[in-house]
Amino acid sequence: MLKTIAELPVSGKRVLVRADLNVPLDGGRVADDTRITASLPTLTELAARGAKVIVCAHLGRPGGQPDQRYSLAPVAARLGELLGRPVPLAADTAGLSAQAAVGAMGPGDLVMLENLRFNDEETSKDDAVRGGFAARLASLADLYVGDGFGSMHRKHASVYDVALLLPHAAGHLVQAEVAALSRLTGQIRRPYVVVLGGAKVTDKFSAIGSLLPIADEILVGGAMAFPFLVAEGHKVGTSLLDTGQIGAAGDYLSRSGGKIALPSDLIVATGADAPAAGAPPEVVAAAAIPADRMALDIGPTTARSFAASLHTAGTVFWNGPMGRFEVPAYARGTRAVARAMAEGSAFTVIGGGDTVAAVHELGFPDSAFGYISTGGGASLEFVEGKTLPGIAALEDR
Ligand code: 3PG
Ligand code: MG
Repeated sequence: MLKTIAELPVSGKRVLVRADLNVPLDGGRVADDTRITASLPTLTELAARGAKVIVCAHLGRPGGQPDQRYSLAPVAARLGELLGRPVPLAADTAGLSAQAAVGAMGPGDLVMLENLRFNDEETSKDDAVRGGFAARLASLADLYVGDGFGSMHRKHASVYDVALLLPHAAGHLVQAEVAALSRLTGQIRRPYVVVLGGAKVTDKFSAIGSLLPIADEILVGGAMAFPFLVAEGHKVGTSLLDTGQIGAAGDYLSRSGGKIALPSDLIVATGADAPAAGAPPEVVAAAAIPADRMALDIGPTTARSFAASLHTAGTVFWNGPMGRFEVPAYARGTRAVARAMAEGSAFTVIGGGDTVAAVHELGFPDSAFGYISTGGGASLEFVEGKTLPGIAALEDR
């Protein structure tokens, strides 16, 4: 069981909250504050109950040393706007500046620590190294709240080790994520259809292997489809092909029992740029991509067939767009999937920053879906049935 923050006596106590505030920036400003707003319920409740709220988070992958391009300053500024009061940012994570900032706090105050990943111990594979940093973080606080769901698949000092050192609870976001995603593990309303796409193939490909025994059908689009097409003996032209996954693709196909649905047709172009206005989409059979063409979206026949599966599904999990949706000419497949999920009666879950951005950009309201996860890799690993280190550390044994 995950203890709730209601069970923590936080009044007057220093509470370290690990949030996932890894948001996209645009010229020094937060471009999408979804993850910040998702963190508000926990932060506001803790402050209202008189806690000294110490927020820690990472931003990007600065590589273990301070790099001002990855400063959390824009995030602290946006959080302050949303809370209606400034949120001071310490100049370091667990050093003199952080200690001074925490020492100056009163009940109900908030401070943010600078990017956790300015410290290479945070992500170390060495338990003792991570543990040393976790001890420094823990020394800043009396209690720990894990609320950074999107990072909980990382066995990092702030996510995992520090939770073992302090009395702890799971924040509201983590509780909500676990409640929603648990409907995709154990008792699942069937048929259970998984839609996988996107461009980050290396990170996500192994999820197909884990999901094969769980899902009734796996619809594959985006760059995830190309290793399969090559494994089937086709050429994919200049499409974004992760050659490292072709062997795994062949393996998954041979044990898929027909559960893997691949594109039968694709939209192709000579480059990834927007085509000339009014140019008709160039549709080819997936088995016949010309050598000088790049596939940028699933084709209309595939979109119809994927939509038909989604219309009759009982449960749907979607991670990864079907094509280069940012270019309107290549957004049709992604839109068809989103629309079919919105129209159907399945319990639908969307995970992953790109996928959530896609449905927003294509004009779908959040209410069109059952649950929108703030996690990408984290929600995928959760539905794969893996144990997330950040959740395991919060479980009471
Ligand atoms: C994410 O954005 O997926 C999470 O914040 C984790 O970030 P990471 O992939 O850099 O560990
Ligand atoms: Mg990620």
